[in-house]
Amino acid sequence: MTTPDPSAPKTSNIDVRRGEPLVVITDVQKHYGDFQALRDIDLTVHRGEVVVVIGPSGSGKSTLCRTINRLETITSGTITIDGKELPKEGKGLAALRADVGMVFQSFNLFAHLTILENVTLGPIKVRKMKKADAEREAKVLLDRVGVGHQASKLPAQLSGGQQQRVAIARALAMNPKVMLFDEPTSALDPEMINEVLDVMVGLAQEGMTMIVVTHEMGFARKAADRVVFMADGQILEDQKPDDFFERPRTDRAKDFLSKLITH
Ligand SMILES: Nc1ncnc2c1ncn2[C@@H]1O[C@H](COP(=O)(O)OP(=O)(O)O)[C@@H](O)[C@H]1O
Ligand SMILES: [Mg+2]
Repeated sequence: MTTPDPSAPKTSNIDVRRGEPLVVITDVQKHYGDFQALRDIDLTVHRGEVVVVIGPSGSGKSTLCRTINRLETITSGTITIDGKELPKEGKGLAALRADVGMVFQSFNLFAHLTILENVTLGPIKVRKMKKADAEREAKVLLDRVGVGHQASKLPAQLSGGQQQRVAIARALAMNPKVMLFDEPTSALDPEMINEVLDVMVGLAQEGMTMIVVTHEMGFARKAADRVVFMADGQILEDQKPDDFFERPRTDRAKDFLSKLITH
C-alpha cells in the first residue's frame, strides 16, 4: 500500500487513497462491571482515512473513542496506534495520547486562559515546545479554523461554534496522527454547526486521519470514506457512505436511519 497524497481529492475508490493501517482495534471487549459496553470490536483505520461512526444513543460510540486514547481501559483485546500497542500508564501513555487528538461535544476549554493560551498549553507542557514557537504555530492554526482574531479573548467571549473550532485547533496543535471527534456539533446551535463541519471537511481533504462520531449525514457523505454503524456495543455495518445510507444491510440500521431522516 502507498501513502495517500494529501492533496488528492476524496474519491469513492477508497482503496486507491488508503495508507498503512494507523489505528488497529482487534477483538476488543469492554465491560463496566457486569455490563458489556463493547463487544468483539475489530476496526482498522488507515492513514488518511475518515471513518464516521453512527448508531443509537448508548451503543458504545463514546466508549470506543475513549478506549482509543485510553481514557478508558479495555477488558481484553488490543488497540495499536501506528504499530504500537497502547501502554497502560506512564510516559509512553502520555506520548501516545498526544498522538490522538480528541474533540468532545463540550469544548472543555480552560475558562481562565485566553484562546491562545488554551492552544499553546499542550505543546509547551507535553511537547516541550518553546513558548514563542508554540504561539507562532497556534496563531497559524487559529487562523486556519477562522478565529485568529480572537486569540487574546477568553473562551466565554466566543460563540459555541468558535469555541469548538478553538478546541479543534488545540487538538491539532499537538500534531496528532489521528483525530477523534465525539459528536462535535451536537451541543451547538444549528446556525453554528456548519462552520465547525466546514473545518472538519477541510481537515479531511488535507488528508488527516479522522474517526468522527456524528449523525450529520451531510458530513458523512461529503467527507467519510466509511461509515461504521454500532448498536449494543457491536459494529453491525462498515460500508462506504452511499452504500450505507442507501442500502443498509441490517434491520437495526434501517430502523435507525428511518428515524434520523425524518428530522
Ligand atoms: N463509566 C461508565 N460506567 C458504567 N456504564 C457506562 C459508563 N460509560 C458508559 N456506560 C454505558 O455504556 C453504554 C455505552 O455508552 P456510550 O459509549 O456513552 O454510548 P454512546 O456514545 O453510543 O451513546 C451505555 O449503556 C452507557 O450507559
Ligand atoms: Mg456518546
